[in-house]
Amino acid sequence: MTKFIQPNFPVTRLRRLRRSSAIRDMFRETSVNTADFIYPLFIVEGEEIKKEISSMPGQFQLSIDNVIRECGELESLGINSVLLFGIPLEKDEVGSKAYAEDGIIQRATREIKKNFPEMLVVTDVCLCEYTSHGHCGVVEDGYVNNDETLKLLAREAVSHAKSGADIIAPSDMMDGRIGAIRQALDEAGFAETPIMAYSAKFSSAFYGPFREAAESAPQFGDRKTYQMDFGNSDEAMREIALDIQEGADIVMVKPALSYLDLIRRCKDTFNMPLAAYNVSGEYSMVKAAAANGWLDGEKVMMEILTSIKRAGADVIITYFAKDAARILNKK
Ligand code: PBG
Repeated sequence: MTKFIQPNFPVTRLRRLRRSSAIRDMFRETSVNTADFIYPLFIVEGEEIKKEISSMPGQFQLSIDNVIRECGELESLGINSVLLFGIPLEKDEVGSKAYAEDGIIQRATREIKKNFPEMLVVTDVCLCEYTSHGHCGVVEDGYVNNDETLKLLAREAVSHAKSGADIIAPSDMMDGRIGAIRQALDEAGFAETPIMAYSAKFSSAFYGPFREAAESAPQFGDRKTYQMDFGNSDEAMREIALDIQEGADIVMVKPALSYLDLIRRCKDTFNMPLAAYNVSGEYSMVKAAAANGWLDGEKVMMEILTSIKRAGADVIITYFAKDAARILNKK
């Protein structure tokens, strides 16, 4: 027999620790828990509304009364954190309802905190759901004006904090927004309110279903002048570094699946609390394949969620939170 070139064989055999599920479970390096999840909610005006989002089976637009019911279900599943998106009745050029005291998010936040004081309420700070043109800022001559937008984002963040939001999550990708929001929160007496920054947020076709859910598709052009180009990794590290300097408490990579390399690079480079957003398109494509019988949806879901944690994420924003919790709670 020719001499085997792996010098440790037969002394080393990695299959020894794979022989039973008990031993595999014992030495699994990465596990997901319900405490890792943040569950997104789409909140609409009105009462008794529960409208399924056609491109996101199992996800709904909910009126506030149903949001409260949903929080009860989430709590019983062990999911203690929600990310709120608001869909206002009226939109205008400057997204006024984003920072109105009686805005949908402001009222929903107060109601959730009243009924579920332990529920961690994270609010998405952006203008695209509230502007008539669907862009994430103030548009002048067809271009989003960065510095004018900062003032409105800061107002929106403070109004969320006043309503009781536990974490402020800016998702607009304007330059300097974390610093502007941090300063505004501090001046308004919210120095202890953390910011979860959508730091490396890419201009991605994976957001398609979300734009149906949040009714936030841009009415002209796209978001490429503010969201990142998906070919860029070094630039993502610069975006994250700036957000940290400006005061971000938690940074985020978004989307997750096509950007696992950046999740790992971010964790290794910055060692910061890190969130990953397992976005709408990542959810919908698994659901569609499962509905066709092409994939085992539950197994693929658990493999995806585990891969996002293995890459380095501490928390995962995911529409799968309830499905995954049901599986995890059975174990
Ligand atoms: C708002 C926002 C978007 C998402 C989260 N916040 C859409 C976008 O930027 O176009 C996408 C989330 C998802 O696809 O699940 N700016």
